[in-house]
Amino acid sequence: MASSHEEDEEEKQCLASFAKMAELVPTLPLETRCPPLPLRQHGGFWLPEATLRRGVPAVHAVFAPRPTDVLLASYPKSGTTWLKALAFATAHRAVHPPSAHDHPLRRRNPHDCVPFLEIGFAFADDDADAVAAKLEELPAPRVLATHLPFSFLPERLRVVYICRDPKDALVSFWLFIRKSSESLGVDMESFPLQEALELFCEGRCFGGPQWRHVVEYWEASRRRRGTGGAGEQQVLFLRYEEMLRDAVGSLKTMAEFMGCAFSREEEERGVVEAIVELCSMEKLKEVEANRNGRTGLGVRGDAFFRKGVAGDWSSHMTPEMGKMVDQVVEDELRVRGSAFCFAGDGEPAPAASSIHTDLPPSFCTPPT
Ligand code: A3P
Repeated sequence: MASSHEEDEEEKQCLASFAKMAELVPTLPLETRCPPLPLRQHGGFWLPEATLRRGVPAVHAVFAPRPTDVLLASYPKSGTTWLKALAFATAHRAVHPPSAHDHPLRRRNPHDCVPFLEIGFAFADDDADAVAAKLEELPAPRVLATHLPFSFLPERLRVVYICRDPKDALVSFWLFIRKSSESLGVDMESFPLQEALELFCEGRCFGGPQWRHVVEYWEASRRRRGTGGAGEQQVLFLRYEEMLRDAVGSLKTMAEFMGCAFSREEEERGVVEAIVELCSMEKLKEVEANRNGRTGLGVRGDAFFRKGVAGDWSSHMTPEMGKMVDQVVEDELRVRGSAFCFAGDGEPAPAASSIHTDLPPSFCTPPT
């Protein structure tokens, strides 16, 4: 287990090495037991080889962030698809009112409305300049997404992070791999849930260790709150479980943070509720592209929509397996000296207005 000081050192070295990442990758520790991709360890995290070799360098050297960009960040299977739908519908409600019959989210998978940054650079057939050119074409405000850890991001980004209980994220990941095993070329015989659990607890999984991914963003969200200066990152930390409890309240907080708060008139017209409804599991599951289509990256659209509840891990794991995850996470957080708690920190989600930002306050015109 690494101490917090060792982790800080690792973070510094990690930042310095992004430029020479392609040469570095073959020398990094390798993990091949966690499908669907071979992982390498860098900066304390296990990430897909291609993400490290092509994605991370391009995010730093080729991607040109804009002050109005919003980056949605998550550990995989934490509610990314939902967050993408909500943020996209909110940012573009002037052009695409949620009630519109031809709304992009009624025709396309949320992953095809909001591209992943590093995954686009890592897996596209095109070279990095061509991928960047496509990102340049996206209408402002650009909503982008990432599974990268906070310490791998460029500076000056407005980030919305979604966190989920580790046991639910683990089970959701395993079921996702099982559902899309054919298209991902995974042999599930060699990846039983017990194996997924052990790898998860060792942090040797896509984006792992999950708790470290979460804690980096949580600490960034608190550290920078109220003290932001030029060049600093702004992070809004949301919890999947809290969003399930209060989707309308969470969406209002997010919209304010994104710089496109709902006006009183919009609230009275029910625009917030209409977006929540448009992005609900029920509605998204009905969309043809999400039932029978594939995303631009070739994954079955329906693999992203399952139950969408909190605590479903207990339908698949024994109480002992659940305790094993909780114990590992608790021990790791104690070693790190972190006050973070997955059950919630007792504080209500921060009002976005309490977060200092030197980014433009508003960039999105509400529909007339
Ligand atoms: P479950 O497998 O527990 O049902 P990601 O989008 O990061 O891949 O996370 C997938 C999880 O989010 C899945 O969880 C999925 O069902 C859930 N999800 C997808 N769309 C959702 C929505 N509109 N509302 C709530 N949860 C959603």
